[in-house]
Amino acid sequence: MKHRKSDRNRKRGRTTAVAAVITIAALLLAGCGAGSGGSASESSSGSGNGQAKKDRKILVAYFSASGNTKSAAEKIAEETGADLFEIQPEDSYSDEDLDWTEEESRVNKEHEKKSLQNIRLKKTTPDGFDEYDVVFIGYPIWWGDAAWPVNNFVKDNDFSGKTVIPFCTSTSSSIGDSGDNLKKMAGTGNWQSGERFSENASSDEIKSWIDDLNL
Ligand SMILES: Cc1cc2nc3c(=O)[nH]c(=O)nc-3n(C[C@H](O)[C@H](O)[C@H](O)COP(=O)(O)O)c2cc1C
Repeated sequence: MKHRKSDRNRKRGRTTAVAAVITIAALLLAGCGAGSGGSASESSSGSGNGQAKKDRKILVAYFSASGNTKSAAEKIAEETGADLFEIQPEDSYSDEDLDWTEEESRVNKEHEKKSLQNIRLKKTTPDGFDEYDVVFIGYPIWWGDAAWPVNNFVKDNDFSGKTVIPFCTSTSSSIGDSGDNLKKMAGTGNWQSGERFSENASSDEIKSWIDDLNL
């Protein structure tokens, strides 16, 4: 009986010692975790988040008729910590409007007659536009150029003192001269060469482009 009791006491002592070691190890691990977590977040803000790096205010303005450019724009905004602004025609494009295989469709008529490309926008100037240092402008490629609903956004805003970075999505066409054409329409701003993405741009592609921009 006595023998068993002291056995139990020894066991209890060992269990307490093991528990203490586990507790100390857990505390040490938690400490290390906090340390590495801190440095990880510092390095991610250093590489991916331009706004955090140089305290720049960034806007991603985009026109998207069927969602592809919108999705790319959202990924850019997420990566850079930017605000989003959707360039919206007063008269939005339906699927029928966008059917370029149909001779009489809206896009075909607008494509053939330049005066029809003067698209009125719901809102032309984003709130607090003056405060932005960097403006991304996104659009789909239509017939090898920027879709014209972005034209009035570009023409009717003052980009002086801002870095402007065009980007587009397309089935296969390159960005071509579309960025340069918009730059001429704008007449102001420090325009960078832009980037073309596929219809389903991945977050990784977007991240690696943003990292290279070194905002
Ligand atoms: C009217 C029209 C013209 C297009 N022209 C081209 C073109 O010249 N080259 C190309 O690669 N894709 C072309 N596309 C495909 C779009 O650029 C592509 O689907 C884009 O990702 C659509 O973006 P969104 O979903 O943001 O509107 C055209 C699409 C439409 C509706």
